[in-house]
Amino acid sequence: MNLITVKTYEELSRKAGKLIASQVLLKPNCVLGLATGSSPIGTYKYLIEECKNGDLDFSKVTTVNLDEYIGLDGTNDQSYRYFMNTNLFEHINVPMENTNVPNGCAEDMQKECARYDALIEDLGGIDLQLLGIGLDGHIGFNEPCEFFVKGTNVVELDPSTIEANARFFASADEVPKSAITMGMQAIMQAKNVLLIANGPAKREIVEKAFKGPITPLVPASILQLHPSLTVIYSEN
Ligand code: GLP
Repeated sequence: MNLITVKTYEELSRKAGKLIASQVLLKPNCVLGLATGSSPIGTYKYLIEECKNGDLDFSKVTTVNLDEYIGLDGTNDQSYRYFMNTNLFEHINVPMENTNVPNGCAEDMQKECARYDALIEDLGGIDLQLLGIGLDGHIGFNEPCEFFVKGTNVVELDPSTIEANARFFASADEVPKSAITMGMQAIMQAKNVLLIANGPAKREIVEKAFKGPITPLVPASILQLHPSLTVIYSEN
C-alpha cells in the first residue's frame, strides 16, 4: 500500500488526476472504474483540462461506475449518471456508449446486479478503480456489514450515509434509502486501486481503514489486501 498525505485538495486532485492520466496513456483502451461524491470533482477537472489540451485521449476508454441510487434515472440531477455526465463525460472525448453506470430504475434489480457483474467480467475487469470513502468506511455504497459482499448488490443506506449525502439534496427526506453498488469482488480484482479522501473529517476513518484491523465493519479496510493500492489523503 502506498499511503500519500498531501496538504491541499488541489494537490490531491493533481496527483490522482496524473495517476489516472498515466493509466490512459499506458493503455488507451483501458477500463476505468469511476466514483462520485465531492472528492473526485477536482480529479475530473484535471482530466478534463488534459483532454482539452490534447494531452489525453479517452476515445478508446471504457468506464464503469461504482453505484447509483435506486429510483433515480439519469435525467434526475441527483442521480450518479447525471453527476458523471455533467462532471466528466460531457467534457471529454469518451464515447457515451462506452460509459456504464448501474441502472437504479431497472425493473428487476437482481437481474441488473447480474448484468453489471457480467459486463465487468466481459470487459476483462477494471484496470484502475477510483474510490472515495464514506465517513463510515463505505466504498461505493458497500456499507458496514457482518460480511464483505461479493457481487453487485442492492443496499439499504446507513442512516449516517443518508445524513452525510443530504448536503446534495433539498433535505435528508429526499435522499433515496437504497442504492445499487458494485461489490467487493470487482473492486478487489481491479488491477490498481486509487482511493482519495480529503479534509480533517476523513482523517479518522482513513486511519481506521488503512491502519486498523481488516473487518467488514469498516468496508474499505479490505483494500489493505489489495496488491496495488494507492491512498491519497489531503489534510485540508
Ligand atoms: C457516496 C458515494 C461514495 C463516495 C462517498 C464519499 O456515498 N456512494 O462512492 O465515496 O459518498 O463522498 P464524498 O467524496 O463527497 O465525501
